[in-house]
Amino acid sequence: MTQDHALRTVADALRSPTVVEFVRASVKTGYREFFGTSSDEVCRMVDQAFNQLSRSQRDGVDPNRLVEVTTALLRDTFRKSDPSFWFNQIYHQYKTEAKPEADFQRLGTLLPGKRVLDYGCGSGYLAARLARGGYQVFTTDVLDYRYQEAQHLPFVQMASATDIAYPDDSVDVALVLAVLHHINRDDLPGVIQRLRKIARYALIKEDTYGLPDHGEGLVESLRTQPLLRTFATMTLDTQRQVLVLIDFFANAIAQGIPEMNMPFEFKTVSEWGQVLLQNGFQVKRSLFAGFEPGLMHKSCHVWLVCERTG
Ligand SMILES: C[S@@+](CC[C@H](N)C(=O)[O-])C[C@H]1O[C@@H](n2cnc3c(N)ncnc32)[C@H](O)[C@@H]1O
Repeated sequence: MTQDHALRTVADALRSPTVVEFVRASVKTGYREFFGTSSDEVCRMVDQAFNQLSRSQRDGVDPNRLVEVTTALLRDTFRKSDPSFWFNQIYHQYKTEAKPEADFQRLGTLLPGKRVLDYGCGSGYLAARLARGGYQVFTTDVLDYRYQEAQHLPFVQMASATDIAYPDDSVDVALVLAVLHHINRDDLPGVIQRLRKIARYALIKEDTYGLPDHGEGLVESLRTQPLLRTFATMTLDTQRQVLVLIDFFANAIAQGIPEMNMPFEFKTVSEWGQVLLQNGFQVKRSLFAGFEPGLMHKSCHVWLVCERTG
């Protein structure tokens, strides 16, 4: 299970009815897009999960109860140790087919090169799709839970966030999708500086809060996404807590990896711009995607295309 600080952060978020109800609604919206005739059943599971999780923190922040409830949900409700359970089959199909295809289509317009390092590749679903699409793909992660579909690709397991064992200038672009907020604050400068040596470009996807005043994709996302419009009315603290609970639910429960490092280092788009610049990457383009359709776990997403400075 994740560290005490992460558990307390999640527990705090679970004590806010506004946060819990928003995240419950966003998870159900995503699941209804993918679970077809099992939609009602999966929504019952989601209700059960959020009811049990929030009840476990009703009388005060209690990390031990959170671990107990999460463990029981993984074992009895989402049955993550049973790949043949229908939830896990549909989830796996999504991760190996629909999600890589959706990401691949988006990446085609954003990737500034053919040699790619997928940093924090996770299950490797996207790396496998990129390789099939003609890219030369290298992968790395601190954990190794790659699906079989990605196991033929070069992979180095990292001993730490900054231990990225690929040579300088060995790829065109570092792909960093939903990873930076998993990196401990003190490690972040070192990670960005190391990636800057390995690749001239970085393509980053992050869950973000505090909507920018303007930017590519923002007006269209606000027009078409009711979830984003509600999110935008929340205080910044509440928005952060929403990101925390979505991240916890998606990684620890739906994906079934509660041991994932979850410092929840979320930032606004302008904060990311500053941190990246301080460490040698300039954001050349930022594309606001929000709570995009076509993703099972929706969050407030932004894409950042960065180029090495100097
Ligand atoms: C939410 S998953 C994203 C996986 C994949 N990039 C994707 O988009 O599906 C975050 C990944 O970052 C990895 N990760 C967590 N902490 C890390 C760290 N300190 N350094 C490098 N990777 C880390 C995790 O192991 C996990 O695979």
